[in-house]
This record gives sequence, structure tokens and C-alpha cells, in this order.
Amino acid sequence: MSAKPRILSGMRSTSDRLHLGNYEGALRNWVEMQDQVDMFCMVADWHVLTTAADAEIHPDIAANSLGVAKDFLAAGLDPKRCTIFRQSDVKEHAELALLLGMVVGVGKLEAAPTFKEKAAEVTGDHIVSYGLLGYPVLQAADILLYKPEGVPVGRDQAPHLELSREIARSFNHLFGEVFPMFKDIIPEDESRSKLPGLDMRKMSKSYDNCIYLSDSPEETSKRIKSAFTTPTKIAKSDPGIPEGCAVCQYLKLYSPDWERQWAEDRAGERGCMQSKQELTEILNEYLRPMRERRGSLTDADTEAILQDGARRAREVASETMNEVRRAMRIA
Ligand code: TRP
Repeated sequence: MSAKPRILSGMRSTSDRLHLGNYEGALRNWVEMQDQVDMFCMVADWHVLTTAADAEIHPDIAANSLGVAKDFLAAGLDPKRCTIFRQSDVKEHAELALLLGMVVGVGKLEAAPTFKEKAAEVTGDHIVSYGLLGYPVLQAADILLYKPEGVPVGRDQAPHLELSREIARSFNHLFGEVFPMFKDIIPEDESRSKLPGLDMRKMSKSYDNCIYLSDSPEETSKRIKSAFTTPTKIAKSDPGIPEGCAVCQYLKLYSPDWERQWAEDRAGERGCMQSKQELTEILNEYLRPMRERRGSLTDADTEAILQDGARRAREVASETMNEVRRAMRIA
């Protein structure tokens, strides 16, 4: 048994690769924490189906999960220092979600902001599924199975974590103290937690405004060339507004020289092309070690790491389930 505090987090495998927003908003935190804590990092593959079960969408979830696991490893999570696993490999998540479903009110789930948003996006003959409504219940199960001290996530996840705590409190109230409370761990630095996409909207696959960790240097260069800058800055001598310019936002995060670069942009002393070129070099250098690691990972190696992680996760999860079954007088 490890004496370090246990921490759990997860990411949905909605695509086969992660972008810089995923990394800065959450994953980087996990990598930085892995030596101080007993870290469990989960690929949430079942959660993908809450919004993609429709026949028209049906993503290749297995391939996506392997890709996401590779990005976890590429980003620096080390299976010797933390546990990396896939949700669907640990069936206890489904069992606990079923049981927690007995203690949470439908009204509470219907009122969750993410449910309302996602349900509003459902159109035509698509359905608002029971699984979508239950998204936070499955997430609560993901967390509570491990009795973590903290859950490091992006800022957007705060409402889900609050709901998970409410579910834990209801369970404890009805069946006895099984689940300890846990803390949110959210990056303070807004330039990381709110890293914009190349068009200054939220970085998201659906907006096609991402820089992916696994993109080639050429692809990154091409994408940065198309990035949104100050629209009224046509000539080099026109003043820029770095606060509203995607390239300047990234420079702030990655360039040691960003204050000078911002000042020159504002003063019309530098062109956007120069900023884009400098950013391309800095970012490609920053991503180089991740790309090298990702390039050397085979599917088989990654799968073996996930299997070993599932075995370790199951050890903890099955203990908790024994307690839960006893508390609920099923066993
Ligand atoms: N809902 C999270 C997201 O969209 C993913 C997730 C699933 C998660 N289960 C979790 C995060 C448990 C933290 C803990 O990013």
C-alpha cells in the first residue's frame, strides 16, 4: 500500500488524439503530480457513448482510446509512476454507477448544466438518452471507486465534481460513511486552463481550431499560419491587440520573451508573420519530446500498459465494491 494521497482523473476518448487545450487544461497537471501522489489516470471510453451512440456518429472508440492512452504516455505519464487504465476494463465502474443511480434524483440530473446543453443539441430523430442523463452518475462512480483525495480536471468539470460529491453525501447518509469527500484540483493559471483555439474560440475538435500534440512540425506550422490575430492589424506598423490575438496568447504561455513580443505587437513594431514564425519554432521545440515518445509507442505496448493499469485499478475498485455491497446489504 502506498502512503501517498490517491488522485484520480479521466478524459473522454472522443477522438484518437489530444490537443494542446487538453494538455494545458488537465493532462500537464497530472504529469506534474505523478511523483507526489498515487495517480490514477483513466481513459473514459464509456462516457463517449453518452453523446455518440447514434448510428450516424459511431466513432471507433477502441482506436480512440488507444490513441488517447498514447498521448497520456507521450505527455509524460509514466506507467511505473502512475496507473493508466481504460474505464471499460474495470467493470466495477458500471456496477457502482448502477447502484449510485438508486440514490440520485432525476430532477437533480435534469438540472445539471451540461445535461441541459447536450440535450438541447439533440435534434431530429436522435434521442436524449438515459446514458446522457446518467453521465454524472457514471463520473461519480469513476471517482468514488478510488476514494481519491483530489480530482485534477479542467475548469469546465467543476459542476460534475460538485454533483459527484452530492451523490457521495446522499449515499453516505442512506447507507453509512463509505465515500470520503475529495477536492477539485483546477489549474490556477488561466492562460493554461483557458487556452484558446487558433480562432480564439474554445479549443475544440468540432471547431477545427486545435493544435494536436501528435501533429507534425509542418502541420503545426501550417496551422499557426492560419491563426487568428488582430483583425485591424494589416501592415506591420498597425498596432496589435495581444489580448485578442491567438498567436500572442500562445506566446505568453510558451515564449520566455513574450513581454517584449507583446509590447512590439502593440506598438506596431512587429508583424504577425514574425510572431507566427517565432511561435512555430518555440512550440515545435516544446512538443518535440512528446512527439518522439509517441512515435516510438506501438499499439501492443500501449495495450499492455492499459491491461496492467486495469489490474491495478481493479485491486482498489473491487475493495470499494465489497464495502458498497455490504453497506447496501446486497452482500
Ligand atoms: N467528464 C470528464 C470530461 O469530459 C471525463 C471524466 C469521466 C472524468 N470520468 C471522470 C474526469 C472522472 C474526472 C474524473 O473531461
